[in-house]
Amino acid sequence: MEPHPRDPGRTAWALPCLLLLALPGVGAQDFSVHQPQDKLSVAAGETLTLNCTTSGMVIIGGVRWLKGWGSGNKTIYDQREKDRYPRVMRAVDGSDSDFTIHIRNVQPEDTGTYYCVKFRKNDSGEDEFFQRGNGTEVSVHAKPSPLFLSGPEQRMRPEQSASFSCTTGGFFPKEIEVKWFMNMVPLMAQQPQISEWRGKTYNMSSTVMVTLQKAYVHSQLICEVQHSTLQDPLRGSYQLSRVLQVPPSVKVHAEPSPVEVNKTVTFTCLVKEFYPANVSISWLENGIEIKVPNVSQPSELRSGLFQLRSQVDVQATEEKNGSTITCMVVHDGQASTNTSAFLWISNMAQEESRKGSPINKDDMVIYIVVGVVCTMLAVLVAAILYLIRTKQMKGKSSPSARLHEPEKSSEATTQESDPNNLTYADLNFDKERKTIRRMVEMSQQSEYACIQTNRAPNGDDNLTYADLDMVHLSKAPKRPAPRPEEASSEYASVQITRK
Ligand SMILES: *[C@@H]1O[C@H](CO)[C@@H](O)[C@H](O)[C@H]1NC(C)=O
Ligand SMILES: *[C@@H]1O[C@H](CO)[C@@H](O)[C@H](O)[C@H]1NC(C)=O
Ligand SMILES: *[C@@H]1O[C@H](CO)[C@@H](O)[C@H](O)[C@H]1NC(C)=O
Ligand SMILES: *[C@@H]1O[C@H](CO)[C@@H](O)[C@H](O)[C@H]1NC(C)=O
Ligand SMILES: *[C@@H]1O[C@H](CO)[C@@H](O)[C@H](O)[C@H]1NC(C)=O
Ligand SMILES: *[C@@H]1O[C@H](CO)[C@@H](O)[C@H](O)[C@H]1NC(C)=O
Ligand SMILES: *[C@@H]1O[C@H](CO)[C@@H](O)[C@H](O)[C@H]1NC(C)=O
Ligand SMILES: *[C@@H]1O[C@H](CO)[C@@H](O)[C@H](O)[C@H]1NC(C)=O
Repeated sequence: MEPHPRDPGRTAWALPCLLLLALPGVGAQDFSVHQPQDKLSVAAGETLTLNCTTSGMVIIGGVRWLKGWGSGNKTIYDQREKDRYPRVMRAVDGSDSDFTIHIRNVQPEDTGTYYCVKFRKNDSGEDEFFQRGNGTEVSVHAKPSPLFLSGPEQRMRPEQSASFSCTTGGFFPKEIEVKWFMNMVPLMAQQPQISEWRGKTYNMSSTVMVTLQKAYVHSQLICEVQHSTLQDPLRGSYQLSRVLQVPPSVKVHAEPSPVEVNKTVTFTCLVKEFYPANVSISWLENGIEIKVPNVSQPSELRSGLFQLRSQVDVQATEEKNGSTITCMVVHDGQASTNTSAFLWISNMAQEESRKGSPINKDDMVIYIVVGVVCTMLAVLVAAILYLIRTKQMKGKSSPSARLHEPEKSSEATTQESDPNNLTYADLNFDKERKTIRRMVEMSQQSEYACIQTNRAPNGDDNLTYADLDMVHLSKAPKRPAPRPEEASSEYASVQITRK
């Protein structure tokens, strides 16, 4: 502190006063500096208010604000040199007792303990330390900087393990929480690495390992950071497509193959499921490049991978028989993939001879067999249709007969004359075990049959058999609780209306 020049008049007036106050034990007891704030926490960028008031006797000498005590102290504000501290403003300008100051735009490096210090003019006119407040501990909390996500330097292939990191810095206090997600699913990550930066703030770096898959083209990683200074967590995202490299699978096929002389063969190169899209295709015939007029563009699949189909037409001249046609694919600056197919020309002479060969006779045999079988089938169908027809005609002329479901009671199993002029006939079935109780209506000429499982009668004597032209039997779904006595055989009652 350089000594402050004082105007002589004021000094002359002040001197007796000073001498009076400087009497041992007087000023020190009655004068005090109050710093009511013990601890303060303020967000970076905001204005910090440091309160300080003095009370007691008037002491000649200035008041200063110091940050830190002892050797490391720094003057923040000096009453005598207001203009030297542009960030600092007095709360009550010119007051003799309120030395509260405002510090604008505080930064993490402003963290420290601030003292309001009263100086006193000594005999030689220099300021010397007189009293100080208890100090205010200020911590500046700072928000973490926007997240920065990074991945591998080079593209990586499926099954490879890639490391991604999320960094942020300049935050205070140290406590910070990091979460990783891939497509909203939480990922396991190592503990974040936190380091001190510029003394008062911290930097953080968190790393996660991901085993890549070709299905990850549309996937994204999300890093989420929560800190006490934040209302909502910070988020950063990383598209896995930025680092994914899926090499294509390449297939070549010729159509038609073999081909007749002088015809055209189309070779198709199918380049499947690759990422990214940059791929180049060239065609080689026995190692020499063929010019292809049109090279189609890769098309994107739903998975985000790409696919490309390239075709080349080759004239099948005789001397090209056995030629190698190669599809050379260079994907994303990687080494080329060569896939080949052969051009086969069928021997026309051999084709001709083949036509008269026993193989052809075999073909004839097959044709004959197929023809005979077909004819037989046709005849059979015709016969069945005729039979059905005649039976239907018969049904029309005969008195109408009905198959009638017998009453649930077992008495229906025996033949009975019925007041409604109905005749009952029981049909005995041995094989069927299931209960059939359903009416089937076919047409006007149809009869109805209801077949019900029932206890076998004691003998055949009391049964009347009805001759039926046609019986439509249909199985009903299994009864929910079949009666035990129905286990053995089924019976159907046929009811015939009397004329
Ligand atoms: C300063 O601290 C001392 C002891 O810690 C306490 O007795 C005193 O009251 C404090 N002064 C003020 C102004 O807070
Ligand atoms: C700090 O000082 C200002 C200005 O004098 C005053 O308005 C405020 O109430 C004081 N705060 C405390 C905690 O003393
Ligand atoms: C502040 O530091 C200076 C040296 O930088 C030292 O001379 C002075 O005594 C210190 N003042 C206090 C109050 O610690
Ligand atoms: C700490 O974080 C800050 C802000 O993000 C950045 O500028 C600085 O380079 C980082 N320092 C280290 C050592 O990572
Ligand atoms: C195929 O074409 C060449 C030249 O165009 C011709 O000389 C040859 O006779 C042709 N061969 C047949 C089987 O058509
Ligand atoms: C080449 O491609 C264009 C457009 O994609 C198409 O119109 C044209 O018929 C193609 N030519 C050949 C020879 O395939
Ligand atoms: C593919 O063919 C080209 C041209 O003949 C050759 O330079 C390249 O080495 C071949 N690549 C592979 C993987 O065989
Ligand atoms: C082409 O080569 C195949 C295999 O060597 C052979 O069977 C065929 O007869 C050849 N075609 C001609 C037209 O020479």
